Amino acid sequence: ARTAVVIPAAGRGVRLGPGAPKALRTLGGVPMLIHAVRAMAASRAVSLVVVVAPPDGAAEVKSLLDTHALPERTDFVVVPGGETRQESVRLGLEALPPEYGIVLVHDAARPLVPVDTVDTVIEAVREGAVAAVPALPLADTVKEVEPAAAPGEPEPVLATPERARLRAVQTPQGFARATLVRAHEQITGAVTDDAGMVEQLGEPVVAVAGHEEAFKVTRPLDLVLAEAVLARRRL
Ligand code: CTP
Ligand code: MG
Repeated sequence: ARTAVVIPAAGRGVRLGPGAPKALRTLGGVPMLIHAVRAMAASRAVSLVVVVAPPDGAAEVKSLLDTHALPERTDFVVVPGGETRQESVRLGLEALPPEYGIVLVHDAARPLVPVDTVDTVIEAVREGAVAAVPALPLADTVKEVEPAAAPGEPEPVLATPERARLRAVQTPQGFARATLVRAHEQITGAVTDDAGMVEQLGEPVVAVAGHEEAFKVTRPLDLVLAEAVLARRRL
């Protein structure tokens, strides 16, 4: 089956602080979104990338794609996004031509994911997984708490899940297209990743090897790390 990638890039980036929408902020002088697009197009299996742009930024994203060098074998489509990540992904899925049987969803906010991770996810879906997510073991111990009513209040700890069984999940997440589309039609509750919706359908999801460099740029410190990773690559 042919493989397409949907890149949700429509978020404001509130946690990064004031400035342009996160996907348009630069790393090494290049917009984060362009890094993310290049990371996806670097996979020979990917023939279409759908970028879900900030609602009023579709024209700007189109011109960015035109001015930055991208592989000729990949097609690009830009659609405006929605209020939530979930809605943005759904709008991206609606733009997919019928011939794409495998779809990856990749956060623009994970600009530095290595192509090997992309290929590992695609391979798992090609081999028959309905959904595959890149995942890493955790460095920190995780506690479940009773969330405080007000910020700063101490929070009672309820449980400590066994760390060895926990994984931090990244993107790109890969899917049999029909299953992800069905998940977006049927699951209405709030979720924090696409695979979670597929889990709610009762469909199996597998975790494959993630990568440290697939971290999400969320807060200002992440920009420092991303610039350092880029600088190391350019040595
Ligand atoms: N996203 C999107 N549409 C939205 C919200 C988020 O396409 N309405 C995208 C973001 O652009 C990002 C990805 O979803 O590439 C992951 O979301 P996150 O890291 O939370 O980005 P933001 O929502 O932009 O950041 P914040 O939550 O700090 O505002
Ligand atoms: Mg967000």
